[in-house]
Amino acid sequence: MIISNKVHYVGTNDRKKHLFENNWPLPYGVSYNSYLIADEHTALIDTIEYGSNPDYLHDIDAILEGRPLEYLIVNHLEPDHSSMIGEVLRAYPSVKVVSNCKTFQLLQNYYPLRQENIFQIKEGDVLELGYHKLTFVLVPWVHWPETMVTYDTTDQILFSCDAFGSFGALDGGIFDDTVNFELFYENEMRRYYSNIVGKWSNMVQKAFAKLAGVPIKFICPSHGVIWRENPGKVLALYDKWSRYEAQEGFLVCYASMYGNTEKFAEAIAKKLSEKGIKEIRVIDVSKTHVSYILSDIWKYKGLVLGSCAYNTEMHPMMAMLTHEISISAPKNRVLGIFGGSSWNGAGAKDLRAWAEKVKMPVTAGSAEFMGRPFAQDLEQLDAFAQALVDEIRK
Ligand code: FEO
Repeated sequence: MIISNKVHYVGTNDRKKHLFENNWPLPYGVSYNSYLIADEHTALIDTIEYGSNPDYLHDIDAILEGRPLEYLIVNHLEPDHSSMIGEVLRAYPSVKVVSNCKTFQLLQNYYPLRQENIFQIKEGDVLELGYHKLTFVLVPWVHWPETMVTYDTTDQILFSCDAFGSFGALDGGIFDDTVNFELFYENEMRRYYSNIVGKWSNMVQKAFAKLAGVPIKFICPSHGVIWRENPGKVLALYDKWSRYEAQEGFLVCYASMYGNTEKFAEAIAKKLSEKGIKEIRVIDVSKTHVSYILSDIWKYKGLVLGSCAYNTEMHPMMAMLTHEISISAPKNRVLGIFGGSSWNGAGAKDLRAWAEKVKMPVTAGSAEFMGRPFAQDLEQLDAFAQALVDEIRK
């Protein structure tokens, strides 16, 4: 599959893997995108995960028609892109591995290279392949410290690695104009962003600043759709998410052992609805993987967390969610807290302590009840919901 002049797609889909990084569910699979430039000189940009496509080297060889691979450009060292480096070196022993100083520091811990295979570049260097001329921009922490992107000045192609990537295998079409992006890719892209890149949103903004003014006709990420018709669309989405911009709506997440905290969560959602909020998601954290919850946190401005007391702490599944929120650290969210208890208020108390620790301001104190929520317990929810709605509409 040709992307542009002499630039071939040699990536693959992975529908076998259940969990990306052994952590994030992949119901629609994932793609590992790799690009081969068969110019006067030949270059491979990133590889694929080891074992995901036994024909990978054959595919490269078929395009090269007996010519050697001269350069292997490593934009990012995470093994979903780099774990075929050893195989590529075995097939093409004289290949020059092209990357930056930080990559080579880390690379020696994975795939020790002989000195003659190392081709170290710095930001702004140009690698002339013939028709194509490649340059490099360092984008540390998008999403490891060594990460860089490669830019083809001839056809204005940005090989962006994890940036602008997405979960979701490429089902047939690989370009933005050959798929219905809204069908599932947009949700899968936001889930990927929030799960993998979101923690580094400030570094994404720094990368945007570095690339400002660079004309881009194609965005070729290392996961997901390739953008050739409307690259501005994916740029706008990543810009929005890395600025923590979100839409009006509330995510009400609860942990409940016997349904009482769930009942309170339902009542809160009903109150939010009565006050005109149309987008409300009520989620049982024991049933929904945290991956999807993080994605919705990146979508909605309002977040309401509630937990029953569990021994003397919040419920373990809510503890897991709050741990993940602490890691990804979304900003500018309106946070409400609620909880139920039998003999102490550990659920809400723990949530309040967590919010203070991660410096997320809590709106409207916290709504609490003992045992089962009775009518008098539910009365507090009108003011609680009103304060949340007022805050979100400020
Ligand atoms: Fe797709 Fe950070 O690797």
